[in-house]
Amino acid sequence: MATLVELIAKKRDGATHEPGEIRRLIEGLVAGELADYQMSAWLMAAFLRGLDTRETLELTDAMLESGSVLDLGDVPGVKVDKHSTGGVGDKVSICLAPIVAACGVPVPMVSGRGLGHTGGTLDKLEAIPGFRVDLTIDDFRRIVRELGTCLIGQTREIAPADKRIYALRDVTATVESIPLITASILSKKLAEGIDALVLDVKVGRGAFMKDLERARALARSLVDVASRGGKGVTALLTDMDHPLGLTIGNALETIEAIEVLRGGGPSDLVELTLELAAEMLVLGKVATDAADGRARAQQAIASGSAAELLRKLIAAQHGNPRVVDDPTLFARAPVILDLSAQRSGFVVDIDPLALGLAGVELGAGRTRAEQAVDPAVGLVLRATKGSRVSAGQPLIEIHARDQAAAARVTERVLGAFRIDDDAAARGPLVLEALRGSAAG
Ligand code: URA
Repeated sequence: MATLVELIAKKRDGATHEPGEIRRLIEGLVAGELADYQMSAWLMAAFLRGLDTRETLELTDAMLESGSVLDLGDVPGVKVDKHSTGGVGDKVSICLAPIVAACGVPVPMVSGRGLGHTGGTLDKLEAIPGFRVDLTIDDFRRIVRELGTCLIGQTREIAPADKRIYALRDVTATVESIPLITASILSKKLAEGIDALVLDVKVGRGAFMKDLERARALARSLVDVASRGGKGVTALLTDMDHPLGLTIGNALETIEAIEVLRGGGPSDLVELTLELAAEMLVLGKVATDAADGRARAQQAIASGSAAELLRKLIAAQHGNPRVVDDPTLFARAPVILDLSAQRSGFVVDIDPLALGLAGVELGAGRTRAEQAVDPAVGLVLRATKGSRVSAGQPLIEIHARDQAAAARVTERVLGAFRIDDDAAARGPLVLEALRGSAAG
C-alpha cells in the first residue's frame, strides 16, 4: 500500500487517485498521522492538478464522515437549506430563512463567518444584541422543530476535517479550486440532515468565481455531487459584479434584511430573496412551481408572519427580539462620513470587491481568523449603478470607529465608483439556473 507521502507525490505528478486513497489522506489528517504541512502540500497539488468527479465525491464523503450527520427525522417536512458561495452585501439568509420557514418548509441552517472580502451570516446575526450562534446540536434540533428554522455555526460534530482543511486553504492560496470548494461546502451542508439544497453561486468581481464559465463549472460540480442519493438541488448563478442591497457591514446588513421582512428593503435584495425562496418552496414541496413559491413568500412578508417568526427565532437564540421593530437597538458607528460625487453624470460602475475590502479595513471583516469583527462599522450606498447624480450629491456613507479609520478607506471607497455621461443599466440579477435530476 502506498505511503501517505507517496499519495501526495501521486497528485503532485498529475495522476488520478485510486478509490480509497483520498479517504486515507483525510482519515490520516483527522487521526494526526498526516501533518498540516503535508495536507497543505496535497491541497496545492489538488489545486494545480485538479480532481475528477469521482475524486471530488470521495473527498466530500470523507470530509462529511469525519463528523456526524444530524438526524432531523423528528422534524416533519422536506428540510431545505440555502448556501451562498459568498459575496459583498449578501445578507439574504437572515430574511430568507424566516420567510421559507413561515411558509411551512423547515430550514436547518449552518452558516459561516466572513471570509476574505465576503461577509458571513454568523457575524451579521451576532450584531443582534445577545444573539448566540454557538448552540448545542440538541438546541438546534429543538428550535428547528418548534419554529421551523435555526441558524448556527459549524460545531465540532459537523465536518471537522473541513474546518482543518479550510484553515489551511485560507493561508496557502488554495481557496479558488472548484473541487476543493465543492467538497468544503457540501461536506458541511450534507451534514445538516437536509433533504434538498438551493445554491446561490455568485459570479463577478465580488465573488470567488469571477467569470460565468468558472461559476457554471462550480455550479455543475456542486449540483452533480449534491444530487447523489436523491437530494433535490438547484443552483442559481447570480450577479456579484455589484454589491447586493445598499449596506455592507454587520449591523447595517442585518437591519436591511429585517426591512425586507417588514415589506421594505432595496429591490435587488427583495428580488433575490424571493427567487431563492421560490426555489426552496418548490424543493420543499409546498409550492407547485416557482410562481406559486414567489406568491407564498410575498404573502409571508405581507402578513407579517415571516417577521414574527424572526422575533421568535431571535428570542430562542438568546437575542433581543425588539430589534425587529426598533433598529436603534443595534450598535451604531460613532463617525459617519458622507462621500459625494466629484462630477455630475450617471453611476456606471460600483466595484463590489473594493467596497468589500474597505469594509474589512473598517473592521467589519477579518484579516486573521482569530480577529473579532466590529458590528457597527461599514458602508451605506446612497447611489447605485444607473443612478443619475449631481456633483456634490452623496454617493456613499462610511460608518467608522473614528475619523482616522474613515479617512484610511476614503480613497478606496471613492475609487469603487465610476461616473460617466451615458447611463448604464444593471444587468439581470439571476443569470442562470441549474437543476439536479431530483429537483425536477
Ligand atoms: N465556502 C466554503 O464553505 N468553502 C469554500 O471552499 C468556499 C466557500
